[in-house]
Amino acid sequence: MTLFSEDILATIKDRMSLSSIISKHVSLKQKGKDFLGLCPFHREKTPSFTVNETKGFYHCFGCGAHGDVFKFLTEYEKLSFPEAVEQCAAQVGITLTPLTPHQEKTLSEREALFKLLAEASSLFHQTLQTTAGRTYYDYLSSRGITDASIQKFQLGAAQKGRLTQFLTAHNVSQASAEKAGLLTRFENRIKEKFTDRLIFPILDEKNRTVGFGGRTLSEEIQPKYLNSAENPIFHKGDLLYGFHLIDHKKNSAVLVEGYLDVIALDQIGFKNVFAPMGTAVTPEQGKKLLKHFTKIYICFDGDTAGFKAMNRAAEIFVPLLQPGIEICFIHLPQNQDPHSLATNGNIDLLKQKFKDPLTLIQFLILYENQLNPGNQPSNLSLRRKNILDRISHIPDTFLKSLYKNEIYTYFQNNRGQPLKSIKNTSNTLPEAVTVSKIYEAAIIKAILLCPRLYNEFIDKLYTYSLTPNTAKILNVIETYILAGNDLEFLKIVPYIKQQLPTINFDYILGNTFHMHVPFLNEPITESNVRNGIQLILEQFDETSSLEDHIKEAQERFKQSQSPEDWERLKLLMAQKQRRYNTEL
Ligand code: UTP
Ligand code: MN
Repeated sequence: MTLFSEDILATIKDRMSLSSIISKHVSLKQKGKDFLGLCPFHREKTPSFTVNETKGFYHCFGCGAHGDVFKFLTEYEKLSFPEAVEQCAAQVGITLTPLTPHQEKTLSEREALFKLLAEASSLFHQTLQTTAGRTYYDYLSSRGITDASIQKFQLGAAQKGRLTQFLTAHNVSQASAEKAGLLTRFENRIKEKFTDRLIFPILDEKNRTVGFGGRTLSEEIQPKYLNSAENPIFHKGDLLYGFHLIDHKKNSAVLVEGYLDVIALDQIGFKNVFAPMGTAVTPEQGKKLLKHFTKIYICFDGDTAGFKAMNRAAEIFVPLLQPGIEICFIHLPQNQDPHSLATNGNIDLLKQKFKDPLTLIQFLILYENQLNPGNQPSNLSLRRKNILDRISHIPDTFLKSLYKNEIYTYFQNNRGQPLKSIKNTSNTLPEAVTVSKIYEAAIIKAILLCPRLYNEFIDKLYTYSLTPNTAKILNVIETYILAGNDLEFLKIVPYIKQQLPTINFDYILGNTFHMHVPFLNEPITESNVRNGIQLILEQFDETSSLEDHIKEAQERFKQSQSPEDWERLKLLMAQKQRRYNTEL
């Protein structure tokens, strides 16, 4: 096997232009930072194949094809991996020197370690499924972890002595097992690192097992979780639990504290949920996340430690913020963590929180309010100063100024008021809110009147960022259906009113807004209503692409300050205004 060092591969990739390699085969159009074209890996009529030049990967939103330049050349041009590397190296003027015997030895030793760790992982996994693992299996069940998750995350159990037996039977040297972190030295004696613990294998993004986390089931034993020790293939600061399951189709990720949180959220359908290795979030982990995602939800435990850890995470992310990147925060109820909410029937609450997270500034205000409470000028000014200081680490000046404005406005208008009152004040276009309120109310009413449309549209609806009240109502409808009830207008209406007493539901039941959505006027037919919903969703789609153009135009005007760019921006804004005034 020809081996290349990770460094040399990274340098080659860095110097290559992925889009020019791919555009030999696919006609690509530049769209913002990305390139877009018809996917060469499946048949399609509308382009869903994107090439991200800065990050050096391609991704197809249709078939999920994903990879870097080497993957493209091996998959499309059918080159072998070494051929692909050699071809690229030649193109960017890098001479590939053969590995020194020393480098080759290190590389093959690493391969051997990965193999050993994978074997140990399957041993633990098997143990969990035997009678010896019964207690661990029952424990997982009692904590709401399903068989499917046990398989997906390859959970296991370490029973004392079993690993030693395995190592002997397979002639594995003590030295390699120690290097892999499976054996450890204690007062000059070698012993198994994990004994009588539930095992969470930790995999890297290349799907290789690199270490383990082990949880004791006994309250008396400390520590509760034991992790593999730091070693050449297990760098805690770089790794994220769950990263091997990355789903590139989504732009967002959720950062949680614990292994069980990752598993429990995955179990209820969340994608891209990751946790650090029991340590505080590091800048490396932050960078890794932002290389793949544009929105990060930080959702730690609802206790003081979790709250402080979220604050430290904010400190890590703030200097990494760039245009187009957003971090937000989920503040969980006291003594709950994502796992407990997800497995104890509080999925709705959890989903609701994700629909309506705290923005960075809202989180910082909440944090500072707790740290320096009080509404005297001294407290208020201290809080304002602290938050401004923290925002000062954002590198992009325009982004920084937007955040600063949010802080100025808050302290001018909301002196010391509780946080609730600042939620959603960042919506700059009041028209947008009013009109989307009408359309969203229309969709809800339409679903209540024609329940069969619920199934047809619900998945699509969830892909829009709906206003919090609409999201809440849809959640209540979902719970109602999940509980096995049929959607019946006369029953669901009082149920929604009872579940959401603060929402003005009479507005939706009334018909004052029907003039904007005539398909809700009598006589109502399912097909009219269906067309009506479709039209609204088309409006939403068009508005969001218009929104993209506006953002781009704003950016351009910001750079150029030219009258032409200003005219263009004004034109787009007027278009948006007209769209909001359009009736269906
Ligand atoms: P938690 O104490 O919140 O545990 O630690 P948990 O994940 O909620 O698990 P349960 O519900 O108590 O079983 C969060 C994470 O911190 C790390 C682990 O990675 C854990 O998942 N941790 C915790 C340690 O590394 N060592 C410890 O002693 C405790
Ligand atoms: Mn926890």
